[in-house]
Amino acid sequence: MYHRSMTTRRPLIAANWKMHSVPNEATEQSSVYRPTAKVDTIVFPTFVHLLQCISNGLPVGAQAGHPIDAGAHTGDVSMAMLKELGCTHVLCGHSERRQHHHESNEDVAAQVTAALAHHLTPILCIGETEAERDEGIAETIVYMQLQQLPLEQLTIIAYEPIWAIGTGNTASPEDAETMHAFIRSKLPDATQDTTRILYGGSMKPSNATQLLAQPNIDGGLVGGASLKPEEFKQIVEIASTL
Ligand code: PGA
Repeated sequence: MYHRSMTTRRPLIAANWKMHSVPNEATEQSSVYRPTAKVDTIVFPTFVHLLQCISNGLPVGAQAGHPIDAGAHTGDVSMAMLKELGCTHVLCGHSERRQHHHESNEDVAAQVTAALAHHLTPILCIGETEAERDEGIAETIVYMQLQQLPLEQLTIIAYEPIWAIGTGNTASPEDAETMHAFIRSKLPDATQDTTRILYGGSMKPSNATQLLAQPNIDGGLVGGASLKPEEFKQIVEIASTL
């Protein structure tokens, strides 16, 4: 069994704002979204809101990045450009990108490699669909999503069961913990204890305590609740008490 080592894994609560505007509080009282003594935070705004958040001194990541530095890729923004702008992190393979932009595991691996090459910290997003869970192949799917990746260089992974994203249905703390422990067991020895594995999928103040109390859940990638500053703040507070 793997146990949380608070000396090596600081909780991280990340706000994925998806295609929404920046909450007013992130510009006016941005303290809600700033790291605290015990908890790291990162905000993931749209491309057009990145600079505003960076200028405001928030830790900022991009929701996606193209692996090629520049070229004929209408609508894309490269990892190189994100780094130059001042981003520190980038989501790779969020399920909405895999689904709507047809990103394959190979595409995601190329993104992770490019992010690392540009000294951006990739957050690899993985997770199964409801049908895959019902079929009993959730771990197989997640295992496949971990292939072809420089796992020893990955410092943050987000496990986001697709059926829990934006649905209000959260994985039970036990099911989430089982998958987090499974993911950790597949990491190389050198990084097994240090890689932070975040849970994503309808995390909110009412379920964060139980989720974050699990030994292998090191934080959250929070969508809906992160747009409500008070809820995000509460989740950060919960993380800081565990
Ligand atoms: P949710 O989104 O918290 O709204 O379920 C999480 C995510 O997609 O990162």
